Amino acid sequence: MRKILVIHGPNLNLLGTREPEIYGKMTLKEINAKLNQYAKSKKISLKIVQTNWEGKIIDLIQNAKGGFDGIIINPAAYTHYSIAIYDTILAVGIPAMEVHLSNIYKREEFRRKSVIASACLGQICGFGWKGYVMALDSLIEILGRKNH
Ligand code: DQA
Repeated sequence: MRKILVIHGPNLNLLGTREPEIYGKMTLKEINAKLNQYAKSKKISLKIVQTNWEGKIIDLIQNAKGGFDGIIINPAAYTHYSIAIYDTILAVGIPAMEVHLSNIYKREEFRRKSVIASACLGQICGFGWKGYVMALDSLIEILGRKNH
């Protein structure tokens, strides 16, 4: 069974009440339930973690080596400046997908750049919670290819 690590970055624990006009009304718990349900139907095992700490994200990615086939990450605000997370994804070499609930390219200037995306297979943004399911689907497909 393939194992995927899902990492939610800072402030995503506040989903549901945090700027719902931008991030939607679903709580993180509800999003994770949808994701787990979908993963189960695809026979994928998920480990889902939320943290507000950059160092914890780095530890999670480092420790994923050998134990996980892929990573789905919403680095939240770290997206825009964490070279450390970018470096870690490259260092471990685990296929990763970046997800954002909002379309970061339609928002403030400082959000229009991801320093993480080029370490990832791809980025999905602007589709709300469904972006996580889309990312999982893409990862499953890519991992299924021989030389991904
Ligand atoms: C976000 C977009 C980021 O710019 C922001 O800092 C977040 C959430 C998103 O999912 O749309 O915290 O990653």
